[in-house]
Amino acid sequence: MSSAKCSIQIAPGQGIHISSALRKTLGIGKPGQISLIFGSRTITSDLVLTRKSGHSLRLSPALAAELKLPHAGNCLVTKRGSSEIQIGPLIGILAARTEHEGISFGGMSGFFRQIISAGEGQSYSFAFSPKDVNWEEETVTGYFPLKTGGWIRRSLPLPDVVYNRMQSRQTERDQSMSSFKDRFLRRSIPLFNWSFFNKSDVYKLLVDDPLAHHIPESHLNPTVNTMKEMLNKYGTVYLKPSGGSLGVGIYKLIRQRAKLYTVRYRSRGQNKAVNYTSADRMINTLLKHQQSRFHQYIAQQGIDLIQIESCPVDFRFHMTKDGENKWVVAAVGAKKAGKGSITTHVASGGKVLATDQVFRQVFGGNAAQMLRKVRSTAVDLARAIERHYPYLLGEIGFDLGIDRSGNVWMFEANAKPGRSIFKHPTAKIGERASLSNLIGFCKYLSKF
Ligand SMILES: Nc1ncnc2c1ncn2[C@@H]1O[C@H](COP(=O)(O)OP(=O)(O)O)[C@@H](O)[C@H]1O
Ligand SMILES: [Mg+2]
Repeated sequence: MSSAKCSIQIAPGQGIHISSALRKTLGIGKPGQISLIFGSRTITSDLVLTRKSGHSLRLSPALAAELKLPHAGNCLVTKRGSSEIQIGPLIGILAARTEHEGISFGGMSGFFRQIISAGEGQSYSFAFSPKDVNWEEETVTGYFPLKTGGWIRRSLPLPDVVYNRMQSRQTERDQSMSSFKDRFLRRSIPLFNWSFFNKSDVYKLLVDDPLAHHIPESHLNPTVNTMKEMLNKYGTVYLKPSGGSLGVGIYKLIRQRAKLYTVRYRSRGQNKAVNYTSADRMINTLLKHQQSRFHQYIAQQGIDLIQIESCPVDFRFHMTKDGENKWVVAAVGAKKAGKGSITTHVASGGKVLATDQVFRQVFGGNAAQMLRKVRSTAVDLARAIERHYPYLLGEIGFDLGIDRSGNVWMFEANAKPGRSIFKHPTAKIGERASLSNLIGFCKYLSKF
């Protein structure tokens, strides 16, 4: 059955009190014993029917404590067996937590407050970190935001679903972190956004897919010859660390003409351009700075991006799953590179622009049609990645480019996408959509 909204009350009394309206909605039979599930906990007690109107469920402070219900409130309720009902979903957001000056989830705190508030009235959502889980007791210390700021901790059952927002690539690479996440899966607790994507891993996922033509030609750990061949073939080549982000460590190699080669990059907050008379000289000089090899680097076909005011523009497509397990474009942000910058990151002088306006400016009368095309490509790409990926995905941030012929290219898929595009005033609707979709997806995964 589907779920219904329900008010959960805590007050003295014997048994589990259920309003007649709720009993009818859930189709509960004769009074008797009833089991109540919350996260990984179950309690059993006498069913007491009340004449209260609306959907309400009441239990004593003692039963609430046994169930580890953190507080009264509104959430969803659904029937599991003939005499079993479940309240929730209990949604755990996994992240690193610090406690230097009070409890904090660092830069993620604001976002967690937003998503927990989006889940209010239809879930119990909380944040937690790996060290908060007690596997022996199957409990977790969860953190709920206070209206007045700060966080309050409560001991909870294991959640119904885990949204992984661990922000450190290094922590996520640890074997202990994999084993930690595996423990949820072994208990059939869905956990989505398993880990960060590596650029080359994502390209590999799609290499035999019908959508492979959206990935620029890419080579991991390229040899000097490979880079030279690509320069001859494409005129420009991007060198990117496979596990990198924020544009750090990226070089753009350009063959201007015979005997004029340029490398562009960013160093100490400034855009640099250095000329060479041959590709060999250019590449060998770069190699000297890289301990003689581009280890875990990708050499990638340069894409001639559409431009605004002579600056390249690309797009962040923030994709989420929704309550029906479907991929949707929650929001799109256009990003214009800063003058002389080889990437569009805001930290390198880039600017977030209104997507509709960029499309109108670049594509004129074809703007609406082009935007539809890119949106549907983004959905197709998300589905394709999911098809080839062994873990659950609920969110992807794509960096997509459009070349001057109108072809769509995928530069990167982020499994833990940042939320900076939502700072733009046109992205408010998208921001709300991204939050409510994620809550919807959690409800879907926990079968509410
Ligand atoms: N092959 C390419 N051709 C043209 N521009 C590119 C290419 N690869 C990256 N870029 C530009 O650099 C930006 C950063 O690249 P990306 O692959 O997203 O790396 P990062 O992980 O550092 O964000 C892109 O958003 C795009 O503007
Ligand atoms: Mg990127």
